[in-house]
Amino acid sequence: MAVDLLLGLQWGDEGKGKIVDVLTKDYNIIARFQGGPNAGHTLEFDGIKHVLRTIPSGIFHEDSMNVIGNGVVIDPVVFVKELEGLDPYNIDYKSKLIISRKAHVILPTHRLLDAASEASKGKAKIGSTLKGIGPTYMDKTGRNGIRIGDLELVDFKQKYRALADKHVALIDFYDVDIQYNLNEMEAEFFEAIERLKELKFIDSEEYFHQAMKSGKTILAEGAQGSLLDIDFGTYPFVTSSNTTAAGACTGLGVAPSKIKEVYGIFKAYTTRVGSGPFPTELFDEVGVKMAKVGHEFGAVTGRPRRCGWLDLVALKYTCEINGVTQLMMMKGDVLSGFKELKICTAYNYKGKVITHLPYNIEEENVTPIYSTFKCWKEDLTKMTDASQLPDELNEYINFLEKELEIPIKIVSVGPDRKQTIPR
Ligand code: GDP
Ligand code: IMO
Ligand code: MG
Repeated sequence: MAVDLLLGLQWGDEGKGKIVDVLTKDYNIIARFQGGPNAGHTLEFDGIKHVLRTIPSGIFHEDSMNVIGNGVVIDPVVFVKELEGLDPYNIDYKSKLIISRKAHVILPTHRLLDAASEASKGKAKIGSTLKGIGPTYMDKTGRNGIRIGDLELVDFKQKYRALADKHVALIDFYDVDIQYNLNEMEAEFFEAIERLKELKFIDSEEYFHQAMKSGKTILAEGAQGSLLDIDFGTYPFVTSSNTTAAGACTGLGVAPSKIKEVYGIFKAYTTRVGSGPFPTELFDEVGVKMAKVGHEFGAVTGRPRRCGWLDLVALKYTCEINGVTQLMMMKGDVLSGFKELKICTAYNYKGKVITHLPYNIEEENVTPIYSTFKCWKEDLTKMTDASQLPDELNEYINFLEKELEIPIKIVSVGPDRKQTIPR
């Protein structure tokens, strides 16, 4: 069998966790392929809300296997807290959660380095979640990293010490005021590693190969969003991994020819948390209303998310890069009752009208050009069937489908698993 992929098409927090949870019933295996605890994937069902960070969003389904792929970076301390969060739900994670030996480990000093790097940047800071993501991927590509498989080696502690000591010297080099107690952090880290070692570590590329051969269905769960991709995002205001479709191949060990459906998820408007350009950002009461109604606060850091209109120029770009085959539109319910809606259909770029995403989308280069749409008044949150969707919403959806030339197969009308309308 092939692998289907689910990806965020904007700047993250599109609602990936919710949809993976909804789709899990159709898959045997759910696999994360990049990112780490910078992700916060929210699932809601039976009146309970869960936020997952590194654990795949299929974990609540009895029959699903959940794999953390080689492309992911794992912080044992955060991970163990996440496992403890599952304790009340009697989830047998020792048998249904497995980890690639090739996934890299976030050390306490990676988190400190993240903080030091951000502090040294001042106003130019990325707005990182400070989970150590950038420094860990730097060590991976710099060929200095520690991998999950290393935890099983006899000389692991020496390896750890050498790398941590190097990090301490680097933190000093930044010459910023970062207070920390490394002894305490290390005690917590080593304790967490012992818990982590209770889980099964695997050679995940072989696992996927055999799973496909035996007809198992696999859903790869992306983290972050395509506009945060290290290559194709709004660099340098991005994360440090490939969040786009290609990242699933390198982050799981699955060949491009094995990828079938690519599900692209987007919000009916746009949000961004952290720094960086955002052409359709709203600074007026309309943006405030979106943030308020949509509860737009980061699931990891609690920071307010910046809000703005849907950017079709950026969305077209991310659909193309990922080869999206089906779209899912989230949070349409949030827009109910707005005076009017806007979609950015082109940019005025240095005096010229363009419809592709240019190299530089900072405010001084780009002014969005909008089309205006009528807004629906109905409360969507109780709707369960596509036939109930209001005409104005159908017009909005039809416009997007025509422009993007990709069908919108799911309309999500609330955070709960049940508030999901197939089309
Ligand atoms: P992810 O990182 O892509 O998994 O998304 P997050 O969980 O960070 O953020 C999405 C937020 O929107 C969460 O609080 C979800 O519970 C919520 N959510 C998801 N889909 C919908 C929807 O259709 N309508 C509303 N109102 N909220 C939604
Ligand atoms: P999910 O999976 C939204 C943003 C941060 C920051 C930039 C770099 O929940 O959609 P990093 O910690 O990676 O160094 O931060 O990327 N960012 C996210 N924004 N959702 C996420 O994940 C994010 N993960 C990172 O806010 O701007
Ligand atoms: Mg999130």
